[in-house]
Amino acid sequence: MKIRLGVLASHGGSNLQAIIDQIKKENVNIEIVAVISNNSGSFALKRAKSEGINVYHISSKTTFDVGEQIIKVFRQHQVNLIALAGYMKKIPDSVLKKYSNRILNIHPALLPKYGGEGMYGMNVHEAVINAKEEYSGVTIHLVNSKYDEGRILNQQKVPIAKDDSASTLAEKILLVEHKLYFATLKLISEEKIMLQ
Ligand code: GRF
Repeated sequence: MKIRLGVLASHGGSNLQAIIDQIKKENVNIEIVAVISNNSGSFALKRAKSEGINVYHISSKTTFDVGEQIIKVFRQHQVNLIALAGYMKKIPDSVLKKYSNRILNIHPALLPKYGGEGMYGMNVHEAVINAKEEYSGVTIHLVNSKYDEGRILNQQKVPIAKDDSASTLAEKILLVEHKLYFATLKLISEEKIMLQ
């Protein structure tokens, strides 16, 4: 399938950048056609803009119906798959309904462990370190109305060293994220991972 990807991001957008870079390097059937952020000053928007990608700022502070606006933009660009890349807002029900089984998220742990409300960023890595786990990792999953509970599409383990702290673990995991998101999108485009 030809993927026309819409991305939702709130902050740095390093995952977005990794996907952009890999699309340029490989001959794949994936195009990022629009990037939306709730944060007008986000580095994710700057990165996308400098790559010539259509960017939009959609926030509940400036728009009455965020879901309707997201759908409008993605429809305009014929988006057929959405990737959340560090998007810190809840996805409106209207978007979940319209893009059912077509929204991916990346989570910096091995779901179903260390997921759910409040489990984001350093909270995840701190919980993993405090539990003295041997492994953490990265999960790519479908998004539904419950935080981090959609079907798991791909996972990669990351071993935890004895001297790892939450922040060194976060660094290791981010490097794996940058590879796994693109790899999963590629498998979807090749129909080696089916979305339903
Ligand atoms: C990543 O750790 C991802 O797992 C989580 O948010 C972070 C986004 O980082 N969902 P970035 O904005 O892509 O740099």
